[in-house]
Amino acid sequence: MIDLKVFSKRRDRFMSQLVSRAAIIPAASLVTHHADCDFPFRQHSDFWYLTGLDEPDAIALLLPYRKHGERFVLFVNPKEPSEEVWQGSRWGTEGAISRFGADIAHPIDQFSKLLLDYLEGAEGIVFRVGQHPKVEPLVLQVWSEHLDKSPRTGAAPLSLEAPCPFLHKLRLYKEPEELERMRVAASISAEAHELARKAVRPGLNERFIQGLMEQHFLEQGARGPAYGSIVAGGDNACVLHYTANNAPLRDGDLLLIDAACSMGDYYNADITRTFPVNGTFTAEQLAIYQVVLEAQQAAIATVLPGNNAEDVHIAAVRILVEGLLDLGLLKGSIDGVIEQGAYRHFYMHRTGHWLGLDVHDVGSYRLGEHPITLEPGMVLTVEPGLYFSDRLPVPDGQPLIDERWMGIGIRIEDDVSVSKSGYEVLSAAACKSVEELTFTC
Ligand code: GLY
Ligand code: MN
Ligand code: MN
Repeated sequence: MIDLKVFSKRRDRFMSQLVSRAAIIPAASLVTHHADCDFPFRQHSDFWYLTGLDEPDAIALLLPYRKHGERFVLFVNPKEPSEEVWQGSRWGTEGAISRFGADIAHPIDQFSKLLLDYLEGAEGIVFRVGQHPKVEPLVLQVWSEHLDKSPRTGAAPLSLEAPCPFLHKLRLYKEPEELERMRVAASISAEAHELARKAVRPGLNERFIQGLMEQHFLEQGARGPAYGSIVAGGDNACVLHYTANNAPLRDGDLLLIDAACSMGDYYNADITRTFPVNGTFTAEQLAIYQVVLEAQQAAIATVLPGNNAEDVHIAAVRILVEGLLDLGLLKGSIDGVIEQGAYRHFYMHRTGHWLGLDVHDVGSYRLGEHPITLEPGMVLTVEPGLYFSDRLPVPDGQPLIDERWMGIGIRIEDDVSVSKSGYEVLSAAACKSVEELTFTC
């Protein structure tokens, strides 16, 4: 687990960006699964990043304008034996101070009463609307009270801003400790992919492979899957968010697995591998696999400081389009196909996304017209794919796709961090060369 001093440094950096604004950062709440049963708790990543406290319904206030008062305030569920017997022990207000470094802590039911005073002197409020239905009305009410009395007091927080420009910019650059945790997540996930590949055979159910991989995540100390594992045989791979995972694996089909773990401190991997269920590619599967692999390698090679995520995407798209033209699956020129977007019927998603505490992590991709430049510490996935299904339409003016290509869905996804001199593939331990996938690695 990351040292608690790291959280304190993050709060300092965040507060220096806030200048005279108050930040209100709520924890997640439990989410109902059905009736009175909840999903396992998942902390809100912003709250976790700043506090390291893994309890529901807490709220952190960061108040940099209080030069001599409390600048880091936590509201938490107080200790209550009759509730802790059901839900497990809590840190309470004392733990919030002694363990999590709050300057002061209050029971959560004091929030609406005390917020008015804590916002005294703030020039603006930083709070994410739309995500915290219990906290939002309280924040708006207190803000409104400040505005109501401002003709008398002469001051009130005047703006309500999302945390994105301040906090999410910090989260975009991973600290060395974070990169280390992401290496662990990627390494456990890569091992699970290898277990799956070695176990696979025709007749097994997709669910068996899911179970095998998720068992490995848990055995290795991860919290569980980072997102709904996708274990998709044959045509199921052409459903991008397939999570039913309940079909038998067929001889002659490919198996696409997009699965990875989330660590106890929420750092994630996100890995996809695709390989033949029976250990041998058909000619068509092999042709598409080689195109996707080449596109992925070309895209990874562009993950360099000074480039941007659009460069990575374009590098993949060019190779994919070239491959589709060579195979007669598209017609036209590379530039013409890219311009018209005809390739999007076979490649309908982007080549990657930021990765971190959220699988689709926070951080902008563009600033106005300008793509964000890749810099050391940023981590992104590189995940080109091609999908052929008779459920997908053929673009106007393009060749009809012969039946022998149908049911091929291939994606290859790695997690790549930008370093000073280039990049590091965090998930490199998961095999992906044709030789490795067709013979024992
Ligand atoms: N596993 C989700 C994604 O690849 O974006
Ligand atoms: Mn991904
Ligand atoms: Mn994925």
